[in-house]
Amino acid sequence: MRGIIERLEEKRAQARLGGGKRRIDAQHKKGKLTARERLELLLDPDSFEEFDMFVEHRCTDFDMAEQRIPGDGVVTGHGTVNGRLVFVFSQDFTVFGGSLSEAHAGKICKVMDHAMKVGAPVIGINDSGGARIQEGVDSLAGYAEVFQRNVLASGVVPQISLVMGPCAGGAVYSPAMTDFIFMVKDSSYMFVTGPDVVKTVTHEQVTHEELGGAITHATKSGIADLAFENDVEALELTRRFIDFLPASNREPPPTRPSDDPVDRAEPALDTQVPANPNQPYDMKELIELVVDEGDFFELQPEFAKNIIIGFGRMAGSTVGVVANQPMVLAGCLDIESSRKAARFVRFCDSFNIPIVTFVDVPGFLPGIAQEHGGIIKHGAKLLFAYAEATVPKVTVITRKAYGGAYDVMSSKHLRGDVNYAWPTAEIAVMGPKGAVEIIFRADSGDAAKIEKRTEEYRSRFANPFIAGHRGFIDDVILPRNTRRRICRALAMLKTKRLDNPAKKHGNIPL
Ligand code: HXC
Repeated sequence: MRGIIERLEEKRAQARLGGGKRRIDAQHKKGKLTARERLELLLDPDSFEEFDMFVEHRCTDFDMAEQRIPGDGVVTGHGTVNGRLVFVFSQDFTVFGGSLSEAHAGKICKVMDHAMKVGAPVIGINDSGGARIQEGVDSLAGYAEVFQRNVLASGVVPQISLVMGPCAGGAVYSPAMTDFIFMVKDSSYMFVTGPDVVKTVTHEQVTHEELGGAITHATKSGIADLAFENDVEALELTRRFIDFLPASNREPPPTRPSDDPVDRAEPALDTQVPANPNQPYDMKELIELVVDEGDFFELQPEFAKNIIIGFGRMAGSTVGVVANQPMVLAGCLDIESSRKAARFVRFCDSFNIPIVTFVDVPGFLPGIAQEHGGIIKHGAKLLFAYAEATVPKVTVITRKAYGGAYDVMSSKHLRGDVNYAWPTAEIAVMGPKGAVEIIFRADSGDAAKIEKRTEEYRSRFANPFIAGHRGFIDDVILPRNTRRRICRALAMLKTKRLDNPAKKHGNIPL
């Protein structure tokens, strides 16, 4: 027995050492933690239960039969984050560059299958040279098995990808199909073809970082939801992030006891909207004044900044927040902001998370670039997402709600459950100036007349009361009471049931 136990310990020690000390040192030199160090930081102490430590690849080509490392380049299993179950895989770059073999893929698929069965999130730590070159098509088959599970798990359990090293070629498509992607500055990148291929094909010269680094994807492409300074920060904030998410679509959003009174009045909100309708204000400040303890976890803060998305809590329970940001492009909806918010709304709807929407939107952004870039279809994504969402939807119009954008932003007409407006709200087809220029074009030479007409339009439409008369908003509320009114609305909606017509799936304008 003793011999067997020693052999077991030996095997375990070998597996824990991955590709060996030299490669671990190289990993540290690059500022990266190893696969196991990452899991230690991500999971609660002593909570990790490892699977498949002894799995080895079955490849014999290119002398691979002599190179077998237990675990085969990925550490998998389950553990807890602040006491809640999660499934994990962490690719080990020290073993064949974290490359994905058939066996390596099998390990990932096993934890994904478990996660689906029991209903718990999957957190994947990606650090890999891609398909295991020595294995050829077996490795590609392995990737496809993972992709298929990503798709089946979508909307069933939250999937989070931490990209903490290379991620290139078709390998990027697994993270791309997960719900959230977090990257690390200077040590991770994602691209379909790397700088060398780009140079050969398009003659463009670009670095790894510029082409697909964390900052690029967090600011330009919107692929990354957040870009962190280093592995430690990424893992710590992932722990905080997980706290907001339900374990699966079978559960309500998690609750956390909060000392923040639900009826907390916030007089600062009364002066949040400037008297001049063209003067911006920071919508983020408003959100922080409303959610529990000012704790707002923003996603994609550096991409499409004209819309804000993220999670907060109201009365202890997670809500998704979507808000126009008047500080950027006056809060207009454009291609990128529509895509950004649409995907977030769909995540919330998949996972039973109520959506709180703050509206200050002068309309869709005009321009040739927007039209030729397909704003019609991209804007429709957000419209579609709000319209199909059946979770509780509470909307607060703080200032402008003009034109089609009024309809899109969780209006009553898209089954908004409780729609409030501040007294400063202006709900109309367009702003006074633009409206008068169109409907009184004949008077355009007469400045005094135009001024009079503009004032007339402003007093008639630049207010919340016409919409109030129609019941399109449920009440005009004092800004200081916004938190209390939202909390009460959400409490009332807790048992909301609403089903869309039975169908295989809709056809969102992709
Ligand atoms: C097998 C690999 C590997 C791979 C790296 N290694 N990538 N082994 N298959 N795909 C091994 C190396 O041989 C080396 O082994 C160790 O991992 C570390 O690699 P280095 O090159 O020394 O590290 P570094 O300089 O940091 O460069 C990392 C890298 C580079 C940029 C990832 O290794 C690289 O370009 N690899 C190939 C990437 C690639 O083309 N992959 C296939 C993409 S196609 P030793 O023993 O020396 O430590 C693809 C298709 C997916 O993935 C399709 C899905 C549908």
